[in-house]
Amino acid sequence: MQPSDKALVPFVSVDNMMRLVHHIGLEKMITQIAAQIESDFKRWESFDKTPRIPAHSPHGVIELMPTSDGEAYGFKYVNGHPKNTSEGLQTVTAFGLLADVYTGYPTLLTEMTMLTALRTAATSALVGSYLAPKSSRVMAMIGNGAQSEFQCLAFKAMCGIDAVRLYDTDHAATEKCAANLKNSGLTVVLCKTPEDAIEGAQIITTCTADKKNATILTDNMVGPGVHINAIGGDCPGKTELHRDILLRSDIFVEYPEQTRIEGEIQALAEDHPVTELWQVMTGQAKGRRDDRQITLFDSVGFAIEDFSALCYVQSAIKGTDFFEPLDMLADPDDPRDLYGMLMRAS
Ligand SMILES: NC(=O)c1ccc[n+]([C@@H]2O[C@H](COP(=O)([O-])OP(=O)(O)OC[C@H]3O[C@@H](n4cnc5c(N)ncnc54)[C@H](O)[C@@H]3O)[C@@H](O)[C@H]2O)c1
Repeated sequence: MQPSDKALVPFVSVDNMMRLVHHIGLEKMITQIAAQIESDFKRWESFDKTPRIPAHSPHGVIELMPTSDGEAYGFKYVNGHPKNTSEGLQTVTAFGLLADVYTGYPTLLTEMTMLTALRTAATSALVGSYLAPKSSRVMAMIGNGAQSEFQCLAFKAMCGIDAVRLYDTDHAATEKCAANLKNSGLTVVLCKTPEDAIEGAQIITTCTADKKNATILTDNMVGPGVHINAIGGDCPGKTELHRDILLRSDIFVEYPEQTRIEGEIQALAEDHPVTELWQVMTGQAKGRRDDRQITLFDSVGFAIEDFSALCYVQSAIKGTDFFEPLDMLADPDDPRDLYGMLMRAS
């Protein structure tokens, strides 16, 4: 039996997502996703917001990240399993869905492992464009795993970075990242210590994976005027920065209710002041004040960023063959005769 049009949901496979990225161009697509995130953050009040829903285990975490703007509903399924790479698996995998609020029918199903790397890099560089010193040219990239190249290229495209200084506890990861960035237009320096990596950097990105309160940066490593883009601390008990750095920084967050549970600020008092990024983007709050201020983006990843990325993909695949129609929704001739549909299929 052939499914009707109503049964079909556009599905973007990993293969098609990669074709889409190459068709648009990686840096251009990151920049365009960032523009979508910015415009959605500027209409913050139109979204339903809730901290994501985690299922923790000793092995890692599985999370659902829902939101809606009243017209579309979206969610992402994502995991975080730092031990996975030692077993030949990725730390982070994801897929996501958009649905029409009026009918409740799904309108897009897509891989989001690639898309998460793009949207995380897009968010980081977007925030960097508000907070990093305008003269930034050099970024330290600590943690050279799956997200790292995307982060470097996003900061090149959107914040004028022309050199990256790479460090990872596993030098093979640093060599992989350096090889991947070889023809990117970035000057790439391989570093043997985190201290070496941050030398002369105006932006410090930490993007490591370890299920513990790690100290990737200590207080004495962070001088005045830098912007810290802290990506890897995104779960209770999983952070990257020494507490004293937080006390010297002005801290910017996506959604405080979620970041206080998952971000670097879980080490601080519940009422420690933070600035919400949507308020910086709408001009209601100040971003960088002066050249000596340390700005910290305590990134955990919020559902609206995924919603923006899903909407971006939905519009980018229109009129293309970068998706396949998936027979996903039962569509009986009589909507109340689901049973009859099943029996006629025998
Ligand atoms: N904030 C967000 O929106 C967001 C989005 C995606 C991923 N993440 C987080 O970012 C982190 C990195 O993700 P990934 O997919 O690149 O993971 P990955 O496992 O591919 O890479 C992590 C790298 O960190 C290195 N590392 C671990 N401890 C280190 C240390 N002490 N110093 C230096 N390097 C160290 C590892 O060797 C590895 O190469 C994860 O913690 C993930 O949960 C956050």
